[in-house]
Amino acid sequence: MRLNGETGFVLWFTGLSGAGKSTLTEAVAPLLRGRGRKIEVLDGDEVRLNLSKGLGFSREDRDTNILRIGFVANLLARNGVGVISAAISPYRETRDAVRRMVEADGVRFIEAHVAASLEECEARDVKGLYAEARAGKRPGFTGIDDPYEPPAAPEIVIPTGQEPLEASIDRVLGYLEREGLIARAAEAVR
Ligand code: ADX
Repeated sequence: MRLNGETGFVLWFTGLSGAGKSTLTEAVAPLLRGRGRKIEVLDGDEVRLNLSKGLGFSREDRDTNILRIGFVANLLARNGVGVISAAISPYRETRDAVRRMVEADGVRFIEAHVAASLEECEARDVKGLYAEARAGKRPGFTGIDDPYEPPAAPEIVIPTGQEPLEASIDRVLGYLEREGLIARAAEAVR
């Protein structure tokens, strides 16, 4: 299979808070760089400190956040960068809008559902935010009293609550390899 190093892509993780989007991104990004790709990461928590500073969690603000991330991802990806987005991106329609924008520029959009269940995310509650949401201190929390719309036909489904991190990483790398978006491991060391 021809590997076109000039072709960027957008790898779009979506899933509940605490599902493992950032963990997976941090694990996968250096591995992709090791396969000769230029990679940039747009992580929800980080984007909200700069590009989307001041936005809240109303539907309108979440949509603004996601469309901004999509816009920047598209600019980078059409110039050959592999972009990883890691934001909850709860609304199907908004993710689809980003997909249309990216694909209109001839760039691959890979929607990856980080599919840990609410029960799994809440049981871990790494940031303690689910407890706050249940206590009514964080109204409008995704999965509690705000919607999460899972993708209808994602390119990748990653059951992070049911498997070790290595297995989840393999799902992502395997998909990108099969699609010719990264070199196979053996080729990369040649
Ligand atoms: S998105 O909905 O706009 O895609 P984003 O990924 O940027 O969300 O930010 C989600 C992070 O913000 C969560 O992981 C959590 O740490 C924090 N957060 C704070 N308030 C909320 C809320 N009401 N709903 C979801 N996440 C929240």
